[in-house]
Amino acid sequence: MAVNMKGKSLIEIHQLTLEEIWEIFDLSASLKMKLITGESHRLLEGKTLGMIFSKPSTRTRVSFETGIFQLGGLGMYFSQNDLQLKKSENISDSAKVLSRYLSGIMIRTFDHQDVIDLARFGSIPVINGLTDLHHPCQVLADLFTILEKKKTLRGLKLAYIGDGNNMAHSLLHGCSKTGMDISIASPGDYKPLDYIVKESLENAKVFGSKIEILDDPVAAVKDADIIYTDVWASMGQESQAEDRKKKFMKYQVNPELVKYAKEDYLFMHCLPAHRGDEVVNEVADSPNSVIFDEAENRLHVQKAIMALLM
Ligand code: CP
Ligand code: NVA
Repeated sequence: MAVNMKGKSLIEIHQLTLEEIWEIFDLSASLKMKLITGESHRLLEGKTLGMIFSKPSTRTRVSFETGIFQLGGLGMYFSQNDLQLKKSENISDSAKVLSRYLSGIMIRTFDHQDVIDLARFGSIPVINGLTDLHHPCQVLADLFTILEKKKTLRGLKLAYIGDGNNMAHSLLHGCSKTGMDISIASPGDYKPLDYIVKESLENAKVFGSKIEILDDPVAAVKDADIIYTDVWASMGQESQAEDRKKKFMKYQVNPELVKYAKEDYLFMHCLPAHRGDEVVNEVADSPNSVIFDEAENRLHVQKAIMALLM
């Protein structure tokens, strides 16, 4: 029986069942094929998606807006300054008002609690387009990309090298739910949050994956099928960039480090990449790199997410 996700929000991958994750992947593959063959797939004719951004974006904005258009709906972009939200109107009232006009909301913001509150007080699906804690749409697109390239997820090893940030958190949830092993190497004070590691360890027990939180990038990359990295200073941490650069230099993904992975490893990065910092061109532009496939798959996977929720 098909899984019914209508009306639900997507706030963290941890809240999705494995069946729901596979439903998203199945529909993503079908919508991707329909786009390639030119078959109509206007599953959200007449629906409206509000897109609220408190941080900049290339991929998230363009892929959601293109995606809702291809599905027959309308996307509306609001920057932080365009709405009364959290300025002259609280989240609860804003959520109730927006629910009277829109069919769904995509929000990119700092405080994860704002996304939770928007979903709690409103009556339409809310999609997390990145918070300081999570980036679920990115990781669902990443897992879909791995599935396309490797034909399976279960049993693969992903090595995440760098900051224990929103990407590390969503990858922990996503890998542990889909039976992938994940090894994270970060400097001492930059490890992923304990409670998210704990949630992922619980998933790992159920779905048969292995989780390692390490200091040593070489140990993490050893025999990896996928090497993943992200910026050392995320949006909102720009003032720490110089300090972090010194602390993270040992965590650069370069030809020396990738030697320890399997020969047919995939290199992944959510982008934007700071080339020369967390990754060098020789790796980002190598035949192992799938960074632009990941970026493309944001479109297909988010169309599936919108179609299922809205
Ligand atoms: N990966 C990602 O979310 O990119 P943007 O910040 O450009 O949306
Ligand atoms: N960790 C990065 C991800 C960008 C897609 C950030 O939050 O800026």
